[in-house]
Amino acid sequence: MVSKSQLQTQLEKYNQTHLLDFWDTISSDQQHQLADQIQSVQFEQIQDLYEQQDADEHWAALAEKAEVPPAITLEDFRNPELFARASKSGAEAIASGKVAMILTAGGQGSRLGFNHPKGMYEIGPVSGRSLYQIIMEKCLARAHQFGSRIPIYIMTSPPTHDESAAYLKDHDYFGFAEDDVKLFCQGTMPAVDLEGKLILANKHTLFTSPDGHGGMLAAFVKSGCLADIMDRRIEHVFYGQVDNPLIQVCNPALLGYHLQSGSEMTTQVVRKNDPLQKVGNLVSVNGKVQIIEYSDLPETFARQTNDDGSLKLWAGSIAVHVFTTDFLRRTSEQSDALPFHRANKKVPFVNREGVLVQPSENNAIKFERFIFDLLPWANNAIICEVDPAEGFCAVKNSPPAPSETPGHVKAAISDLHKSWLKTAGADVNENAVVEINPLFAVDSEELAQKIKKGIRIEGEKYFV
Ligand code: UD1
Repeated sequence: MVSKSQLQTQLEKYNQTHLLDFWDTISSDQQHQLADQIQSVQFEQIQDLYEQQDADEHWAALAEKAEVPPAITLEDFRNPELFARASKSGAEAIASGKVAMILTAGGQGSRLGFNHPKGMYEIGPVSGRSLYQIIMEKCLARAHQFGSRIPIYIMTSPPTHDESAAYLKDHDYFGFAEDDVKLFCQGTMPAVDLEGKLILANKHTLFTSPDGHGGMLAAFVKSGCLADIMDRRIEHVFYGQVDNPLIQVCNPALLGYHLQSGSEMTTQVVRKNDPLQKVGNLVSVNGKVQIIEYSDLPETFARQTNDDGSLKLWAGSIAVHVFTTDFLRRTSEQSDALPFHRANKKVPFVNREGVLVQPSENNAIKFERFIFDLLPWANNAIICEVDPAEGFCAVKNSPPAPSETPGHVKAAISDLHKSWLKTAGADVNENAVVEINPLFAVDSEELAQKIKKGIRIEGEKYFV
């Protein structure tokens, strides 16, 4: 192990010697742990990130030039000819084994008051199935639909990895062949306080947190998952986040539009229901598609309208993307492909007296990468609209929040499945609570082939 004086010299250079405040009071194992952690820190990078100015002006300048990116709108989706052509080409890609899924599940359910990986949160309105189960069964069902396999790569984080791995194994990977489920763990970043000092979570541990869903790219390579998809000759990767149980996993038409336009990265969007809706804004600046996060878009630009009164920047990200494998490989070799964003947060810390403090105000800056920052690097990037009732209702908040609570999401699942039943000719009581297992029917068309016209649905009903 390096000595205290070696560490001291290293830390002096970056003004971080407070990390050794408790060195003489901790055990030798704890000294080892702290020394290892200190040596893994990239001090110059942290210093640069801390010194970066808040970029309000940068976002305002971008927003000024923002146009709407090339879009496949719901109108295109509802055009039977275009839809049939796109669905056919997406279906062929799945049938020939060229498609995989990445599911990011690094988040904990803390905002939901759930002290476990968010993927384990039970959200099925009748069955109580978890987010992991619903999304994995959708993936499996889609593969079955075309007599193929769609391997799934699940990104965890240090706080969610072990519990997720045990949970998925205990549930036999929800029907997947074990070889088709790969878990990989994202990296972490230290946070700094408002003076740029690294934070001690306790006397012998630096505070670190997951490096954002953009950490996916580096972790995908490091874990060997990128090599695995290349070995399997997979050409397109469908990406989604674990908090949206309405996600249309590997939707053939979405894949088809992505293929037909030669896009390296396609993003699914909803038409924003409010200019300030908390979703990333899809824009095109100088011909490059990109996302300006809701928190970065100045309100005047968010409220801009077209001549007919509709919202100019109408497209909100639902964090669903399709990448070509080649694009992931190329950008993973480019160290500057994904910048870090800063977020001010409350982080508990050990003060100079060795006392754990729970701050009441933001006291720390966390650094995170966002996967959507890959968009400007992509050739022919397009966006595809989806009706939120059919593809987006993420669970993020606890009641009494006005939106995105478990209650809202359960109701959205039931409402969607009732609408499928009605389309299939069922007689549905408005008060019924309905859930359809994706392995029974993954979409409205499949359901229509399986149920009898005129069937009466009331009470609670689970189609298995
Ligand atoms: C996110 C998007 C926003 C989009 C919205 C749609 C960002 C910064 N913003 O907002 O543009 O419109 O979703 O729902 O992403 N995750 C990890 N590792 C991490 C951080 C997050 O795996 O280090 C996963 C979480 O498990 C979660 C998802 O990413 O499923 C979203 O993260 P969250 O912080 O909830 O993003 P939002 O602010 O809701």
